[in-house]
Amino acid sequence: MSDAAFAQISALARAEAGLILPASKITMVQSRLRSRLTALNITSYEAYAKFVAGAEGDVERRMMISALTTNVSHFFRENHHFEILRRDAFPELLQQARKGEGIRIWSAGCSSGQEPYSIAMLIHEYAPELVGQDTLILASDIDPKIMEAAEAGAYSEQQIAGIPPEMQKKYLKKNGTQYHVSANLKKMIRFRELNLIGNWPMRMKFDVIFCRNVVIYFDSETQNALWPRFRNALKPNGWFFLGHSERVADTAANDFQSVGMTAYRPIQNRNQTQSILTNAREA
Ligand SMILES: C[S@@+](CC[C@H](N)C(=O)[O-])C[C@H]1O[C@@H](n2cnc3c(N)ncnc32)[C@H](O)[C@@H]1O
Repeated sequence: MSDAAFAQISALARAEAGLILPASKITMVQSRLRSRLTALNITSYEAYAKFVAGAEGDVERRMMISALTTNVSHFFRENHHFEILRRDAFPELLQQARKGEGIRIWSAGCSSGQEPYSIAMLIHEYAPELVGQDTLILASDIDPKIMEAAEAGAYSEQQIAGIPPEMQKKYLKKNGTQYHVSANLKKMIRFRELNLIGNWPMRMKFDVIFCRNVVIYFDSETQNALWPRFRNALKPNGWFFLGHSERVADTAANDFQSVGMTAYRPIQNRNQTQSILTNAREA
């Protein structure tokens, strides 16, 4: 692939999905796009770059982003977040649900579905009362192909290894060589294609947002634009989880406080708190 074709493709990946592809990734990009060239019967990366960036390339742009995204995921990945959810968040969510409040959890960048299904299993196991209530998990990703896999919810023996055996028995059904996620888990999840750097059409606020191992692929400018949007999408007493090598930037230090390893909660409006204190002092 020529430098010019690579530059065109990486500019497009950034504009479309926020993905950063430094020059060191040229071989990876080439190998991930090879099947796209074959599918389109295009013989050079230069011709592909021209096509995908052109007026006729809008359908292919989604396919290109799908090919370029990294979709690795595991059940109960970074288990410390599931511990926080079970130990600290569930008791609060149960109280809210008992008052009639709907519970909303977002797995943003859900890949092949292991993250939202892990959350659903945890709810069934440790907060079953929420199952009968108005509890929903939104599972979203930019990649339409991986969303299909997530919705299908079928995994190999190797992929289900992270699920404790007793949960495997309860929530998976073997069919041939694949293990299928049970319908009662699926019932709780809504799968939607959604680009995090585009519009977020949801009007609801979330109790918990998982956005793990996604912003690592964005530059700091794109990340910094996301922190206030996540803050705004959370209920005031919500929970926000990032991946192991991701951190909320200092620019959002007034929005989030750390409550554990890459675990955050919103900080209540400081100005508001300040003015309440001042008013109280002056009264
Ligand atoms: C490495 S996976 C992480 C999956 C899961 N959250 C986890 O931690 O196991 C990253 C996912 O982010 C998605 N992604 C990348 N850019 C995105 C964007 N702009 N909007 C939404 N999802 C995006 C990719 O398609 C991919 O499925």
